Amino acid sequence: MSSQNKATVSFSDGSPAIDLPILGGSSGPDVIDIRKLYALTGKFTYDPGFLSTASCNSTITYIDGDKGELLYRGYPIEQLATKCDFLDVCYLILNGDLPDATQKTDFDHRVTHHTMVHEQLQFFLRGFRRDAHPMAVLTGLAGALSAFYPDSMNLNDAHQREISAIRLIAKMPTLVAMAYKYSVGEPFVYPRNDLSYAGNFMRMMFATPCEDYKVNDVLVRAMDRIFILHADHEQNASTSTVRLCASSGTNPFAAIAAGVACLWGPAHGGANEACLTMLNDIQQMGGVEKIGEFITKVKDKNSSVRLMGFGHRVYKNYDPRAKLMRETCHEVQNELGLHDDPLFKLAMALEKIALEDEYFVSRKLYPNVDFYSGIVQRAIGIPVPLFTAIFALARTVGWIAQLNEMISDPEYKIGRPRQLYNGAMRRDVQPIQQR
Ligand code: CMC
Repeated sequence: MSSQNKATVSFSDGSPAIDLPILGGSSGPDVIDIRKLYALTGKFTYDPGFLSTASCNSTITYIDGDKGELLYRGYPIEQLATKCDFLDVCYLILNGDLPDATQKTDFDHRVTHHTMVHEQLQFFLRGFRRDAHPMAVLTGLAGALSAFYPDSMNLNDAHQREISAIRLIAKMPTLVAMAYKYSVGEPFVYPRNDLSYAGNFMRMMFATPCEDYKVNDVLVRAMDRIFILHADHEQNASTSTVRLCASSGTNPFAAIAAGVACLWGPAHGGANEACLTMLNDIQQMGGVEKIGEFITKVKDKNSSVRLMGFGHRVYKNYDPRAKLMRETCHEVQNELGLHDDPLFKLAMALEKIALEDEYFVSRKLYPNVDFYSGIVQRAIGIPVPLFTAIFALARTVGWIAQLNEMISDPEYKIGRPRQLYNGAMRRDVQPIQQR
């Protein structure tokens, strides 16, 4: 990681110049190590939104935004999405390599046999209003796990971290399905250990005590792919939230709950829901014919309307996950015979127009994964407000791996950003009559 290269920083205010080490990773931009900057100069750096700041040293996920490349532990997402299932990918992200046959059987067995949640948890869930947003419920339930599994809360104990990791990966689908069943007033469906991870989730969502869910391989594969594509995405907002939250030494369930809360936002995980809502709105305005009018609003600086599902902080090329999701989208449409689905047609027309429009081309705004994942989920029968909860379910493994990596890093410290203060200078409190 270290290199002989240095950055020399000179100052126009008369302070002496200093040399800062430049560190190189295995791929991606080098970083200027500024850890001693404050001690040497009394100055901080200023980088709201972390546009030029590497917040940690990581070995999990690599994104080349210009090439449109995404690697988990070095493996291209295209290969993982076509040759592996989600639990292979979970094992890879957590442990650094793909499992062999014995490791795979063992890992699958461990996850499968932790899918039930403490029975008392459903009474906690029943405290929510039935119309509560699933992300509100999931934030609460993920945090509540710390009240139900106190034996795996010590972040500094590797064994407890491993147990909480298995519990979280195994129980998130159960919690998401419970949140859904509660919202529609149907009985909870208990997990079944003979099904795949995605198959079990879909059964918990769609079976009822009167009618079992017939697992459809194409749809289960689509769901599994959604999980794989969302499993990790390096230091995005929710992952950085999980790291920062866990850096205080809190328990893993609480840190994951913080990640769920962050993911909810429409600029992050909430974009898939926002994208579907946008498509529905255009459809109601008049459909394909109204795209031009909508795009004009998007381009108007005063409108604050964005084309949801387009653009990405890191990808300045086609999001590789979007390409795979687009493929899955067509498979699901074929399987379900939805070629004439107006929303699908609208999405394809919108994509085409945006990809040719100078506004989007010049800003390198391409469809991201959320543009298609919402359409696929809707076709599968997932209600729109649940989309982000499914993203959270899939991202849980990434959050845990990132948290584990941070705790195991010998350079780990509690996260404590500094600030450029621009508020009032010191002043005295006046008696209330004189304020
Ligand atoms: N529609 C219209 N204009 C856009 C969009 C969009 N979706 N995204 C960016 N722009 C414009 C923006 O107005 C700005 O234009 P100008 O230079 O004229 O001021 C320029 O592109 C750069 O935008 P930015 O806001 O500085 O870019 P960012 O890197 O801070 O934002 C983003 C990234 C994802 C928040 C943004 O592209 C966006 O809001 N997209 C829609 C929401 C969305 O789909 N989010 C899902 C992201 S993928 C899932 C995930 O990984 O979480």
